[in-house]
Amino acid sequence: MVNPVFPFIIAHDLRVARKRWVRMALNILCIGDVVGRPGRDVLADHLQEFIAARSVDLVVCNAENAAGGSGLTPQIFTKLLTYGVDCVTLGDHVYRKREVVSLLEKSDQVVRPANLSPAAAGKRWTVVQTKSGMHRVGVACMLGQLYMGSNDSPWATIDRVLSEMPSDVKVRVLDFHAEASSEKMAMGWHLNGRVSVVFGTHTHTPTADARVLDGGTAHISDVGMTGPYDSVLGRRKDRVLTALTTSMPAHFEIARGDPRMCGILAAVDPVTGRALSVERVEVRGKVHEGGPYDSDDGYKNSR
Ligand SMILES: [Fe+2]
Ligand SMILES: [Fe+2]
Repeated sequence: MVNPVFPFIIAHDLRVARKRWVRMALNILCIGDVVGRPGRDVLADHLQEFIAARSVDLVVCNAENAAGGSGLTPQIFTKLLTYGVDCVTLGDHVYRKREVVSLLEKSDQVVRPANLSPAAAGKRWTVVQTKSGMHRVGVACMLGQLYMGSNDSPWATIDRVLSEMPSDVKVRVLDFHAEASSEKMAMGWHLNGRVSVVFGTHTHTPTADARVLDGGTAHISDVGMTGPYDSVLGRRKDRVLTALTTSMPAHFEIARGDPRMCGILAAVDPVTGRALSVERVEVRGKVHEGGPYDSDDGYKNSR
């Protein structure tokens, strides 16, 4: 005989299980500036395995240096998505490759810096789905003002962007692409409790200050680049030293050695949007055969 209480026990357990599932944190991986072929190769080799090993729900990736070290092309964008990237952010090199304009106008998985002219091509913010399709995340990027040129106020811009995003999208991620650590840290405090993850990019050098601020915002001043670290910010160190020590021009070719993927992994409560934890991520890759450019870069290998 069937116990009449049994169906209620099952229903109760399902409710509890669903509640627990809903409360499960989202793991959001934010990756810094992908530099050329070495950076792309690290992602091709390691991103999928990292996503599986760490149960990553969403990958946000700054790709302003992905094509030949400066800019982004639609072809490289498509490849980044196949490697596991869900949303691409950009920086001061946003329009370096002209073909990016059509991509910026079409795709919902890429944003341009929000504090450019209103006439600039591309979306100021977007909402993307997590890999499971169960959650939505708002994503934007902005440029700093200190040592970065005359961009619109990032402070007023992000306030406007947040007010424009759907109010039910609680999980929000900002890539703050800026030079000065003071400005980046201040942006973390400005958005404390209002944005889930604020990660800095642009300097290509990782900082050791990843933390969750008291309002529930995961913050780091700079995640560092995804590219060759045997270099000066991704470029051949001999070329940079020649330019700096002789005042003579030198072609800043992309370096090859010691490629790494750098970023942060933040756990975020999908209901409140509050970050629960954050850690730095650094995955070492290998140097591939051939030069630092391939056909995607539109360059011939050179020495
Ligand atoms: Fe930059
Ligand atoms: Fe960069």
